[in-house]
Amino acid sequence: MAYADLKGKVAVITGSGRKGGLGAAIAKRLAQDGARIVLHDLGQTKGAMAPAHGVAAVAEMDHVAQEIRDATKADVTTFAADMREEAEVAAMIGHAVKTFGRLDILINNAGVGYLFGKFTEQTQEKWDTVLNVNLRGCFFAMKHAIIQMEKQDIQDNWGRGRIVSVASRAAKSGSALTSSYVASKHGLVGLTRSVAIEHGPLQITVNAVCPNHVTTGLGSWQNDYMSAARGQTVDEYLAAMRGRIPLGRVGEVEDTANACAFLCSGDARYITGEAMNVSGGEEMH
Ligand SMILES: NC(=O)c1ccc[n+]([C@@H]2O[C@H](COP(=O)([O-])OP(=O)(O)OC[C@H]3O[C@@H](n4cnc5c(N)ncnc54)[C@H](O)[C@@H]3O)[C@@H](O)[C@H]2O)c1
Repeated sequence: MAYADLKGKVAVITGSGRKGGLGAAIAKRLAQDGARIVLHDLGQTKGAMAPAHGVAAVAEMDHVAQEIRDATKADVTTFAADMREEAEVAAMIGHAVKTFGRLDILINNAGVGYLFGKFTEQTQEKWDTVLNVNLRGCFFAMKHAIIQMEKQDIQDNWGRGRIVSVASRAAKSGSALTSSYVASKHGLVGLTRSVAIEHGPLQITVNAVCPNHVTTGLGSWQNDYMSAARGQTVDEYLAAMRGRIPLGRVGEVEDTANACAFLCSGDARYITGEAMNVSGGEEMH
């Protein structure tokens, strides 16, 4: 189902420069519904980053942008920024406004989900990287998005703005070897709820989605890592995971993209402060 009221909306989707990633799928879905898109990614390796599975280069983001333009005819621009740096995140929001004149939708999708390991072997650098991208970066983006949205008028039957953060099932339940990731995603849901309460009177809705496993580039690395940690093959690991999911399969990028499109639509104008599971029933609270 397409949401007609997404036509012309300006959407920034962070961490959307990776082919096959959740962010690219969310951007494509919003573009299909007529939104104007700012693709964003880090663009280069920096600090405790693992380039093979963690970071989209500028060339990859440009490629994703062209694929979305070709598939949807949407207006798509790109911007590289480090979510750990407030000035860069503010410049990303500024780029959206300079390019398209406004900002209606922020999707906080950029995330680091690969600095896993035994809790007692976590280092300050790894902890800071995960928390600074997954939580502090979302704070920066929400803050600068809202500063812009506050200047804009309320649109009938839609509101003034939408913020959707891609949290995770890890925002609802803990798991071994993922302490910093789980902490960052639980924090993101707390941030979502508080920012939703504070900005409800402005008609800016603030929600999160909580996908379970999706085999993106990051998800594929997680499969390798977690299966090895359990002494399983990747197939055995995935089969066990499917066995825990009532709908019988792992997530697909479109499942999360569809949930984001709904939350950005006018149909969701009375929904705020939610952390919506997109998990085939694996997570129910
Ligand atoms: N794949 C899954 O199973 C899964 C499940 C639940 C939630 N998630 C979440 O969904 C989001 C997208 O994950 P994905 O699986 O598509 O992985 P992905 O690695 O393809 O996407 C994450 C993006 O964030 C970008 N990024 C990382 N550090 C950055 C920084 N400092 N500044 C700017 N950008 C940065 C990366 O370059 C990458 O493009 C993440 O927040 C992840 O935690 C993923």
